[in-house]
Amino acid sequence: MSNSANSSPNNSMGARLDKEALPASVMVLDALPHPVIMVSEANNQILYNNVAAEAFFRAGSASLQQKTIQYYLPFSSPLLALIEQVRRTGSPVNEYRVDVSSPRLGQEQIVDLHVAPVVELPSAVVILFQKRTIADKMDRQLTHRSAARTVSGLAAMLAHEIKNPLAGIRGAAQLLEMSVSDDDREFTNLIKDETDRIVKLVDRMEVFSDERPIERDPVNIHSVFERVITSARSGFARDVEIIEKYDPSLPPVFANRDQLIQIFLNLAKNSCEAMVDVENPKLTFTTAFKSGVHLSIPGTNQRVSLPLEFCVKDNGGGVSNDMMEHIFDPFMTTKTNGSGLGLALVAKIVGDHGGVVECESKKGSTTFRVLLPAYYDKSNVELSEN
Ligand SMILES: Nc1ncnc2c1ncn2[C@@H]1O[C@H](COP(=O)(O)OP(=O)(O)O)[C@@H](O)[C@H]1O
Ligand SMILES: [Mg+2]
Repeated sequence: MSNSANSSPNNSMGARLDKEALPASVMVLDALPHPVIMVSEANNQILYNNVAAEAFFRAGSASLQQKTIQYYLPFSSPLLALIEQVRRTGSPVNEYRVDVSSPRLGQEQIVDLHVAPVVELPSAVVILFQKRTIADKMDRQLTHRSAARTVSGLAAMLAHEIKNPLAGIRGAAQLLEMSVSDDDREFTNLIKDETDRIVKLVDRMEVFSDERPIERDPVNIHSVFERVITSARSGFARDVEIIEKYDPSLPPVFANRDQLIQIFLNLAKNSCEAMVDVENPKLTFTTAFKSGVHLSIPGTNQRVSLPLEFCVKDNGGGVSNDMMEHIFDPFMTTKTNGSGLGLALVAKIVGDHGGVVECESKKGSTTFRVLLPAYYDKSNVELSEN
């Protein structure tokens, strides 16, 4: 297709055209993580869609552009009224937190809508959907990543500056032990125990300074949960009812298996610790496939699809509002013997995998949701990289 043909609005629409020949406007629209569509006056037929709209509407450009917007939305949808309003008044409107859930778009589709007229095409209307949950998640995820980076610098410093002198102190205590009375040996033992405790803490922090790329393979999440549940049952979850709700057809997750086990052990342990005073403690593991969830990688033009959703849910007391904002920060703990490193490590590992973790909590119901990329073979790779 030639450039001149492309410059007419009707022809610049194919999202899958030869990239070389695309005008900048189309490339910009395709780079946007938000679905954008244009509908015609004639029955709101979809005239244009960007790449993000394909995931949102769960259909390719070719099929989208044969449909009307009513095909995807219930007749009473507030979006239809907005489109009419824009046509009538000729001025753009924004509407926040609009529910566009429908059988075709799925449940819990809460979006911000930006609806605007098109000057060159009278009565055509452009709609930009901004998915609330994704916007919120991205903001929070970027904060967690910077928190993890702060720890990684600190951890590297601690490892050098603390572990060496500690080894000296412990060695000296061991020497003293041989020459002191039995009564005083209590103190040399104290020195040894406390230095061991600090070394262990520093060791736990050292994982944060590990910047090596992770080794990833296709991993069956259900085998990971099986491992986690087996060790939970024999330890911290001994008196807890464990419920498993799995989507058996889930594709493998592209991840490091040991690190996945670590994530869900940390989450499950926190849940059980939050349920000590609960009468019927219940720990629920769920897996599900959610299409249309994407994360942009800062500093690149890449976007990853995060269709795999893994949740750990408990019916404990919940997270307080104060704690919620800092829950993934290192050293944030409400426990007497807590380290506050469990969730910071979860955030670091999930971030290293290019995923997202978030927490939703009210009294009696706390859910930690981990979204990760799936493993696709080459023939399907377009899905994960577009
Ligand atoms: N499932 C949960 N329910 C309620 N609070 C939680 C839950 N998970 C984590 N928290 C809160 O987050 C804090 C940080 O957790 P974490 O980073 O694992 O550190 P630690 O477990 O050592 O305190 C906990 O002290 C607790 O207050
Ligand atoms: Mg913990």
